[in-house]
Amino acid sequence: MKALILAAGEGTRLRPLTWACPKQLLPLAGRPVVFYVIQKIAEAGIDDIGMVVSPNREEEFRKVVGDGSEWGVKIDYVVQPEPLGLAHAVKVSRSFINSSPFLLFLGDNLIEVEVASLLSEFKNSVSDALILLKEVSDARAFGVAELDDQGKIVHVEEKPNKPRSNLALVGVYLFSEAVWEIIEGLQPSSRGELEITDAIQGLINRGREVRSYILPGRWLDVGQRNDLLLANSLLLQDRIQPEIQGEVDSESHISGNVEMGGGTVVRESNIEGPAFLGKDCEIISSSVGPEVSLGARVRIEGCLVERSIIMEGCHISRIHLKDSILGRRAKVAGKGRNDCTRLTLTDDCQVELWDSETS
Ligand code: DAU
Repeated sequence: MKALILAAGEGTRLRPLTWACPKQLLPLAGRPVVFYVIQKIAEAGIDDIGMVVSPNREEEFRKVVGDGSEWGVKIDYVVQPEPLGLAHAVKVSRSFINSSPFLLFLGDNLIEVEVASLLSEFKNSVSDALILLKEVSDARAFGVAELDDQGKIVHVEEKPNKPRSNLALVGVYLFSEAVWEIIEGLQPSSRGELEITDAIQGLINRGREVRSYILPGRWLDVGQRNDLLLANSLLLQDRIQPEIQGEVDSESHISGNVEMGGGTVVRESNIEGPAFLGKDCEIISSSVGPEVSLGARVRIEGCLVERSIIMEGCHISRIHLKDSILGRRAKVAGKGRNDCTRLTLTDDCQVELWDSETS
């Protein structure tokens, strides 16, 4: 079986961050979002993966993700010329998938599920699709499924105003070859996209069996900035093991689970886990954590930084940051640690707070 990861699209809800970096490559607990997706697929034993990317992002994906050898899989890239919908992304990948059944995984979804158990349930059934669902309190922002009493899906709808159930489509789907005929005949929806939910409804309308799998574990769809911060916090809590490779002076204190990369130097500072500090960072007279991820070569001086994602190469001084996301090489200089500031900056931004009276 092959897998297809969808990582094109514009990530408009995550602007300004996605002006500079595709959302699937934004870092969570020190690793790009899509790395968690690839790992899940690789763990299930699928080693032939297609990654759908936008034309202007292909080079960056190839550089960051590479050919898949890091996970023991083969990754081929498929370019979707325009983000015309999930079913369109699948359609342009037809020659990669060829005629086998396939796993479709949205590249911005983090789920707690054994993909292998989904695969075996699908292989042992006569269904033409198996769709992962999750109960949510408000399903209006998602695809929504209605089930019969045997767990078969009888109706799906994309982002309805009045959802028929609280079961959201999670963004993980298994399809047989039967889906191609439907996808080839799809027409754009009212928002101008070829919808994968319409392809699923097409299967149902033709009397094909579409089964559901209700996710018992966690699902994180990192569509918006607060989702990113939440996902970062949860991944840090779950995954970080204490590992200090850098240099910590005697006036500094480390508590909780902290992973610190080689070459990082901590002076006169407190680091509170869970936290991830990349390589070659410099933390001086500061308090960092909990729930903070720092990329490589970040410099922090005279700051308080809590629950934030600070990407590689940032320089921050004299500020209290909380719930902030700073793109690569952003530079922030504050006036002191008293007031708490929440920032969302894309790459290479500069913010300087100052008193015109005294400067
Ligand atoms: O997150 C679950 C939801 O994902 C489902 O409940 C919905 O049924 C499904 O349509 C989808 O909705 P979103 O609005 O969240 O989709 P989004 O535009 O964020 O795209 C999801 C992924 O697919 C993301 O990694 C970008 C990629 N993509 C998106 C489009 C529109 C493509 O590769 N090509 C595209 O044309």
